[in-house]
Amino acid sequence: MTHRIRPMTAQDIPVIARWMVQVSLWQRYGLDEPKARRQLEAALQNDDLLLVVDVEDRLSCGFTWVMPQGGFGRAYLRLIGVHPEQSGQGLGAALLEATESAAAQQSAALFLLVSDFNSGAQRFYRQHGYQQIGAIPGYVLPDVTELIFWKRFTE
Ligand SMILES: CC(C)(COP(=O)(O)OP(=O)(O)OC[C@H]1O[C@@H](n2cnc3c(N)ncnc32)[C@H](O)[C@@H]1OP(=O)(O)O)[C@@H](O)C(=O)NCCC(=O)NCCS
Repeated sequence: MTHRIRPMTAQDIPVIARWMVQVSLWQRYGLDEPKARRQLEAALQNDDLLLVVDVEDRLSCGFTWVMPQGGFGRAYLRLIGVHPEQSGQGLGAALLEATESAAAQQSAALFLLVSDFNSGAQRFYRQHGYQQIGAIPGYVLPDVTELIFWKRFTE
């Protein structure tokens, strides 16, 4: 399986929005296709860091969105996702590594929030050197605590 990581374009957005709504995490946060499209279009307009991964002829199977100063003035990983049919094959790891390399050009650290119930993603981030440094109860959904994770790029 060969994959390619590249910057997101406007053509990727409807494709991504279509599979994002199949991800149970984002269903719980009330995401629908128009909202997903609006968020990604705004991010693209804003010149945020947006990467996608293509797997052979399947385009936009995964993506990351980083707001360059969205985490206490440092880079903030707003979203990362891999198509449910493609998860567990290393695409998330490849995307995260490419995203970190790009973010590290401008930021000494990368922050992110992860839901308390999303133990798979927490394991994924810890495997990549992220540490929990805080928690915000009820920040987005009243019954969910958002865990604050970060990774420092420089000692
Ligand atoms: C988290 C996510 C980006 C990881 O991408 P991936 O391509 O599946 O990850 P990789 O194949 O590189 O790494 C697999 C690791 O991810 C973790 N993981 C999290 N969710 C997983 C899933 N549904 N399937 C497989 N692995 C998952 C595990 O730690 C796994 O490692 P392990 O098998 O040693 O326990 C992806 O599963 C996803 O899009 N999940 C839904 C959205 C989400 O939770 N995003 C993060 C919060 S915004």
